[in-house]
Amino acid sequence: MSALVSNTVSKADSGSVSIKLIQCSKTFGNGAPALEPIDLEVHPGETLVLLGPSGCGKTTTLRMIAGLEFPDAGGRILFGDEDVTDLPIERRGVGMVFQSYALFPNMTVGENIAYGLRIRGIAAAERLTRIDDLLELVQLQGFAQRRIDQLSGGQKQRVALARALAVEPRVLLLDEPLTALDAKLRESLRADLNSLLRKLGITAIYVTHDQGEAMALGDRIVVMERGRIAQIGSPQEIYYQPANLFVADFIGNMNRISGAVQDGQLQTVAGTLALPEQQTPLQHGAQATAMFRPEDVQLAVPDGSGEGLDGCIMSSFFMGDRTRLMIDVGQALPIIVDASGRVSWHAGERVNLRIAPQAMLGVLPSPTDNQGVPS
Ligand SMILES: Nc1ncnc2c1ncn2[C@@H]1O[C@H](COP(=O)(O)OP(=O)(O)OP(=O)(O)O)[C@@H](O)[C@H]1O
Ligand SMILES: [Mg+2]
Repeated sequence: MSALVSNTVSKADSGSVSIKLIQCSKTFGNGAPALEPIDLEVHPGETLVLLGPSGCGKTTTLRMIAGLEFPDAGGRILFGDEDVTDLPIERRGVGMVFQSYALFPNMTVGENIAYGLRIRGIAAAERLTRIDDLLELVQLQGFAQRRIDQLSGGQKQRVALARALAVEPRVLLLDEPLTALDAKLRESLRADLNSLLRKLGITAIYVTHDQGEAMALGDRIVVMERGRIAQIGSPQEIYYQPANLFVADFIGNMNRISGAVQDGQLQTVAGTLALPEQQTPLQHGAQATAMFRPEDVQLAVPDGSGEGLDGCIMSSFFMGDRTRLMIDVGQALPIIVDASGRVSWHAGERVNLRIAPQAMLGVLPSPTDNQGVPS
C-alpha cells in the first residue's frame, strides 16, 4: 500500500489542492434555482461531506466541481489558484465514484482500472504495475482478470474507487458510493474508505443523505437544505451546536419541551428543568422551548422530589446497543429516550427524566419564528 501511495497516487507528497466555490448557483432550464449562490471552501487534503435530504442540491454541487455541470453566470470555481470554472471534466483532474458503480461490464477488473491510463497512453507494463498497486490498495489482490458480473456490490465499488484513483486525480468526488450496499457491508466499506482517504490525504468531497456516514467520514460536514448551505462545521459542531432547527432535526433525533422560565428553570407540564446559563438570559415568565438529545436523558423511578420531568413509557424498543423509549410527558410529542439496553423498561411504567443543563442544545423563546439556536 505504501508503494502505491508513493508511486501511483503521490497526492500527499505533491501537495493537496484546495477547492473554492464562489457565488455558485445553478438554475436548470426555466425552473427555480436548484442551488442558490453558495460560497464554499474545501481545505487541501480534507474530506468534506455534503449532507442533506433528497433534492437539496448535493449532486448538483458535486457535478459543478467535477465539470459535468457549469454554474450560472458569475459563479467561479477554483482548484488551488487555478480558475477551473470553464474547464471540462477531462481537464480538471478529478476522479469520480458513483452509487451505480458505472463500470464497463465488458471489461475485466484490471481493464476497468487501467482504462484512464490507456487513454493517457501509459505503457502496458506500467499499467500492470499500477493495477496491482491499486488492487492492493482496495484489498482486491488477484482480481485483475475477473469479470465485472462476477463481483459482489462491495467489490464493484472497490473497483470503481481504484479506477477513480488510477489517474492520480487532484480531487476525489464520491456521490453516495455506499448507498446500494447492505448495511453491514456499507459499514465495513465505510471504515476502509475512511482509512484510505486519510492515508492518501487527497482532497475529497463525499455526498450522502446518511448522517451516520457523514459523521464517520467527514472532517467537516456541509448540511444543505433546499439549495442552500444550512451549516458547515465539524461533526461535533453539527451535532452539538446545530445552527438552526432544520440541522438539529436532520442530524439525529431532537427532543423539545416548552414551558415558562422561572428563576433559571423551565416550568413545564411535566415538571421543572434546570436551564443552562445563556448569553442572553430569558426573562422571568417568558415562554421557552428546550432541546436535548435522546441519549442525554437520565431515567429513574419517580421519587417525588419534583425535579426533572415525570412521564409514562408509551413504548420500548430493544435495539441491541440501546433501548429506545417513547415517553409521554403530557405534550403533543413524546420525548424520545435512548437508554442502556441492559436495563429493562416497560410500556406503562412511570419514570422521571433528568437532563443535565449542559446537555441542552438550545433554549429558544417560544412561540417563535426565530429558527436560531442560541449557544
Ligand atoms: N438536469 C436537471 N434538470 C432539471 N432539474 C434538475 C436537474 N438535475 C437536478 N435537478 C433538480 O435540482 C434539484 C437538486 O437536485 P440534486 O440532484 O442536486 O439533489 P440531491 O441533493 O443530490 O438529491 P438526492 O439525495 O435525491 O440525490 C432537484 O430539485 C432536482 O430536481
Ligand atoms: Mg444526488
